[in-house]
Amino acid sequence: MSTPIVEVENVNFSYHGLTVLEDVSFSVQEKEFLAFIGPNGGGKTTLIKLLLGLLKPDSGKIRIYGTSPEKAAHRVGYVPQDVAINKAFPISVLDVVLMGRLRFHGKTRLSKFDKKAARNVLAELEMLDYQNRRIDDLSGGQKERVFIARALATDPDILVLDEPTASLDTTGRTELYAILKEINKTKTIIVVTHDMMVLSSYVSSVACVNRSVHYHDDAEITEEMIQEGYHCPVELIAHGIPHRILKTHEDEP
Ligand SMILES: Nc1ncnc2c1ncn2[C@@H]1O[C@H](COP(=O)(O)OP(=O)(O)OP(=O)(O)O)[C@@H](O)[C@H]1O
Ligand SMILES: [Mg+2]
Repeated sequence: MSTPIVEVENVNFSYHGLTVLEDVSFSVQEKEFLAFIGPNGGGKTTLIKLLLGLLKPDSGKIRIYGTSPEKAAHRVGYVPQDVAINKAFPISVLDVVLMGRLRFHGKTRLSKFDKKAARNVLAELEMLDYQNRRIDDLSGGQKERVFIARALATDPDILVLDEPTASLDTTGRTELYAILKEINKTKTIIVVTHDMMVLSSYVSSVACVNRSVHYHDDAEITEEMIQEGYHCPVELIAHGIPHRILKTHEDEP
């Protein structure tokens, strides 16, 4: 197997002495489509912030492309949780995407080239027609696409999305995952999701995050997991696929 692009080794993290992630180890390969699943408060967003270098582990090691998350940050695009909801953003769609271009260039002025790049990525997400609209005036699904465009504006190698489908209906979700599948042809994707539907059809691997992390290197779903004790979130079952669940974790009896 080739060298992993993300390596997490024995990572521990706590907020003010309260442990949130304990002895977390896993790695991610190039072009993987990895889903983080797990209950509310399980530590998914925290784990993502550690991968982005926004938080530092108390102990353990994280390498992205063989270097620290801070040094690799320009290779990672990030769509934060809830970014598309309840935010007053009185600026245009194009300006939101251009903000993504400013992020790593240390520039104060944008060139024609920046605008062209921003428009290209909006076109990829089928949002170019909306470039002059106020972001506030778009639907939840349209906003989500714009924030994905912002994350893609610097052409990162890894795209990280924290619950991008939370505000979308079934059609919106399906469309969004189709877009991500297309993006996955050239980029590695890490997505936090509660969408069980998505797991087998789009993703290549799944990690259950609930203080500890159980990594499954395929998205295969079996019946055993519902019958045996497991650490993956119960709501996955409640959401409607009672017979299709992840394999049991290897280190469990
Ligand atoms: N800045 C913070 N300071 C203190 N505690 C925090 C902070 N951020 C998160 N936590 C706590 O850490 C735990 C993990 O939170 P996190 O946001 O990583 O969970 P999550 O898996 O993303 O949950 P959700 O599915 O609700 O988004 C929770 O108990 C949360 O209350
Ligand atoms: Mg979260």
